[in-house]
Amino acid sequence: MVKDQNIWQIQKYGGDILYINRLIRYRKILEVFSLKGKNAIVTGGNKGLGRAISLGLASAGANVVIAARELEASENVAKEIKKIGTDSLAVKTDVSNQKDVKDLVNKTIEKFNRIDILVNNAGVINRPRQAATEIPEEIWDWVIDINLKGTFLVSREVAKSMIENKKGKILCIGSILCEIAQAWHAPYVASKGGIRQLVKALALEWAPYKIHVNALCPHYFRTDFVKKSLEDPERYEQILKNTPMGRVGEPEDLIGSSIFLCSEASNLMTGQIILIDAGYSLP
Ligand SMILES: NC(=O)c1ccc[n+]([C@@H]2O[C@H](COP(=O)([O-])OP(=O)(O)OC[C@H]3O[C@@H](n4cnc5c(N)ncnc54)[C@H](OP(=O)(O)O)[C@@H]3O)[C@@H](O)[C@H]2O)c1
Repeated sequence: MVKDQNIWQIQKYGGDILYINRLIRYRKILEVFSLKGKNAIVTGGNKGLGRAISLGLASAGANVVIAARELEASENVAKEIKKIGTDSLAVKTDVSNQKDVKDLVNKTIEKFNRIDILVNNAGVINRPRQAATEIPEEIWDWVIDINLKGTFLVSREVAKSMIENKKGKILCIGSILCEIAQAWHAPYVASKGGIRQLVKALALEWAPYKIHVNALCPHYFRTDFVKKSLEDPERYEQILKNTPMGRVGEPEDLIGSSIFLCSEASNLMTGQIILIDAGYSLP
C-alpha cells in the first residue's frame, strides 16, 4: 500500500515501485547520492571551487585524483581527502597539454583501475579586463587552450576508458557566461560559450555508452578567481544589486549539485547546462 503521493505518481508512470519502496522502508533513499567506491578526477582540484568539489565528492565516498599545475597545492588537498577517509592522488597536469592529460589518465587507471567521474573545473580568465580591440593573440590562445581545449582533451581521454566501461559522469564547470555575455572578457566569454555547446555535443555522442555530460554554471563565487571584483566595494555592491538573492556564492554552495550530477540520482540527465547563480541571469 503506497501512501505517499509522490510515490503514487512514480507507480502510476511505471517506476520500479518495489525498488523505491525498499529504499524508503529501509530509509536508504539517499543512497542514490552515494559515491562510495567511485573514482573521480577533478581538474583544478587544488584550489577554490575545485577544492570544494573534491572534498565534497570525497565526503560522498569517492576516491579523488587532483589534477592541476601546482603539485604541492594538489598534494595538500589529497592529504585533506585522505583525512576524510577515501583515497587520493595528486598528478601534476596542465590540461592544455595532451601529453600531461594522457599521463593523468594512465596514472589514475594504474592506481584506481577505473574512472567513474570527471569534473572539468580548471579555468583561467583574461586579466585585467580589456577591450576586445586590445586583447593580444597570446591571451586569446591561453584562455581558449585551458578552458575549452583543456576540457575537450581531458574529456576525450577519460571517455575512451568510460566507453569501455559503458558508464560515466562528466561534469563541466561552466559559468553564467555559458548563457549570457559580459564586456571586457571576450576570450573567457567565448570559451564558456564553447563549453555550453561542447557539453551538448559530447552528451549526444556518448549517450549510447551511458556517459552523462552536464555543466554547472556559477555566477560570482568567493575564490581567488573573482577576488579583485569582490574586494572592490563599488563592484561588489553592483554584483549584489544584480543578484536577486542578494549574495555571492561560497565554494561549498557548489557541493550538493556536484554530488547530484556525479551520482546515480541524476541518471537520466545529460547535456544540461544548469545555472547556479542566485537568480543573477533571470532579469
Ligand atoms: N569563482 C567564480 O566566481 C567562478 C564563476 C564562474 C565560473 N567559474 C569557473 O570555475 C572554475 C574554477 O574557478 P575558481 O573560482 O575555483 O578559480 P581558482 O581559484 O583560480 O582556481 C582555478 C583552478 O584551475 C587550475 N588551473 C588553471 N590552469 C590550469 C591548467 N592549465 N591545467 C590544470 N589546472 C589549471 C588552478 O590550479 P593550478 O594553478 O595549480 O594549475 C586552480 O586549481 C573555472 O573554470 C572558472 O571559470 C568560477
